[in-house]
Amino acid sequence: MPEDTPNPFTFDIQFGENITLSSYDNHIVRHLSNMRGQFLDSEAYQRMLDEDDRLLYEVYEIHRPEVPGELLHGISIVHPGKVGDEYYMTKGHFHTVLDTAEVYYCLRGRGFMVMENPQGNWSVEPLRPQSVLYVPPCWAHRTVNTSAEEDLVTFFVYPGDAGHDYGSIEKQGYRKLVVERDGTPAIVDNPRWLPPEKR
Ligand SMILES: [Fe+2]
Repeated sequence: MPEDTPNPFTFDIQFGENITLSSYDNHIVRHLSNMRGQFLDSEAYQRMLDEDDRLLYEVYEIHRPEVPGELLHGISIVHPGKVGDEYYMTKGHFHTVLDTAEVYYCLRGRGFMVMENPQGNWSVEPLRPQSVLYVPPCWAHRTVNTSAEEDLVTFFVYPGDAGHDYGSIEKQGYRKLVVERDGTPAIVDNPRWLPPEKR
């Protein structure tokens, strides 16, 4: 056993008006300005940004060493809202160590996990309270909040050495977008997306 192995520990997920952790090490915030180029409607994006650089999502993390035997975990909170008709979402990423998986447990809200793999296959799974989502190795993943008023809150766990690769999916976005059509969420093709052989 490595000498720096920590003692076991416990913390609570506190359910109040907001869902919080009783202890955490990092609080990451992502504002609209951090999402340039991510939403399809760039004019709506710029109009909103000129008004206010609002908060789109937050992550509270428990710090663990980024090594294979560890598990990184915490909660992700995506706030409700839209840019044009596209719902607020996380940037999303592949893991740098591509063949590493992740588990999400939905605590509150409603939305989707939008996923795709390097071969261009896609999957969009619903998230609702008490649902557990397994993201297999090699699948990029992004959380989308489709509620008009409620946060989408998930607890996540992934391997310590996984890392985050934002760049490769950032250029053209995901194959599928989640937008509002006639008042309800719809999964539509991303017109900017190109199949792997055409990139
Ligand atoms: Fe991940």
